[in-house]
Amino acid sequence: MKKLFVIMSIMIFAVIAYAAQKGPETIKMTEVFNVPNPTKKVVEFPHAFHQTKNECTECHMSPDGGMALKNIKTGEKLEVGKVSGIMNPVHKNFCWACHTEENVPQGKSCNKCHK
Ligand code: HEC
Ligand code: HEC
Ligand code: HEC
Repeated sequence: MKKLFVIMSIMIFAVIAYAAQKGPETIKMTEVFNVPNPTKKVVEFPHAFHQTKNECTECHMSPDGGMALKNIKTGEKLEVGKVSGIMNPVHKNFCWACHTEENVPQGKSCNKCHK
């Protein structure tokens, strides 16, 4: 019995560790980019959903994810700076860039992301 319990614990731990490597299921993008006074509703990015549609390295510079995101247009590291207005680099070089490239339905409709 005791042995079984130990094996079970190790398996559960492995599952949790694996889930942690894939990052959060949803991510508040307003917090990621430090947008202090958003004029639009906060964007809750469905990360787990995108992992079923895209490869990690389409969005991340490294295959294990992490902070460095990819500029979809250039393939280089996404530089963001201050996010304000509709022509911001998050739209242009990340979310919208891929949604346009991959013909995501209503991929640029404001309330698809700001809700
Ligand atoms: C469609 C784009 C997209 C895809 C595909 C994607 N991610 Fe992410 N991921 C993001 C964004 C955006 C963030 C938030 C960036 C941040 O926290 O700096 C993020 C955050 C993460 C984080 C947390 C980073 C941190 O330290 O806060 C991890 C870990 C991660 N992703 C791993 C993965 C792995 C592994 C895959 C593939 C199985 C993957 N991601 C696929 C966009 C994506
Ligand atoms: C590398 C490509 C890629 C990037 C970058 C990307 N997306 Fe997407 N997104 C997709 C694809 C593919 C779909 C799904 C299209 C389909 O099959 O319906 C999608 C769908 C969505 C959906 C709809 C989810 C649903 O439940 O139907 C939302 C919301 C969304 N994306 C938000 C974002 C936001 C916010 C960002 C930027 C932080 C972003 N996406 C960046 C590829 C991308
Ligand atoms: C595919 C996802 C997506 C779509 C579609 C989208 N946005 Fe955004 N938008 C974001 C993300 C991600 C940010 C940066 C994080 C944040 O501000 O929450 C952002 C930031 C902004 C900002 C700067 C921050 C603020 O709230 O003032 C404005 C303004 C904005 N968007 C307006 C719009 C308008 C207008 C539309 C429709 C034409 C639109 N967005 C469509 C994802 C999207």
